[in-house]
Amino acid sequence: MWREHPGGGYKIPVNIIAMFLLTAVLALTTVVSAEDVSMGPVFVKEPPNRVDFSNGTGAVVECQARGNPQPDIIWVRSDGTAVGDVPGLRQVLPNGNLVFPPFRAEDYRQEVHAQVYSCLARSPAGSVHSRDVNVRAVVAQYYDTDVNKEYAIRGNSAILKCVVPSFVADFVKVLSWHTDQGEEFVPGDDFGII
Ligand SMILES: *[C@@H]1O[C@H](CO)[C@@H](O)[C@H](O)[C@H]1NC(C)=O
Repeated sequence: MWREHPGGGYKIPVNIIAMFLLTAVLALTTVVSAEDVSMGPVFVKEPPNRVDFSNGTGAVVECQARGNPQPDIIWVRSDGTAVGDVPGLRQVLPNGNLVFPPFRAEDYRQEVHAQVYSCLARSPAGSVHSRDVNVRAVVAQYYDTDVNKEYAIRGNSAILKCVVPSFVADFVKVLSWHTDQGEEFVPGDDFGII
């Protein structure tokens, strides 16, 4: 390949020079076109405003963004500080998901399980903040409902209230009513749940 030049030193074959030139031109084109389509982060999956979950199930809060270059995802608290892992209770995955594994009642921690988070996607091309994500975990526990007596005039409607203890009321939805005789009432023509 390398021939000794009569005048000493080496002569580089022309086709190698051409190849170097072509490579250089290609590299330059790639850089220019990458800059052309540079794009600030945009959310592909923005997390919801509210995430309620029980200690028995845990929760995964998804956050995904795209852009050029591909943005990094971090999670921050409302004061702007970055959120880190808390072993067994909270994990920030490389794909941007914020994971709350199931936990025992005694491991409940307010600063982890009742906290406002937000997802931040950032790259050299810019950064975007997601909406606030209000995370709330509840520890599954026994509760009982009550109903008080109501009087109504025959032929009129009566409203019975299902009394749910306040510590779970936010998480309880009344689906049906039952009598001691085993009758079941689900919302329909002559019965509704409000
Ligand atoms: C969640 O809490 C309840 C009540 O203390 C407990 O019985 C249950 O085992 C807990 N779940 C997990 C996954 O630890």
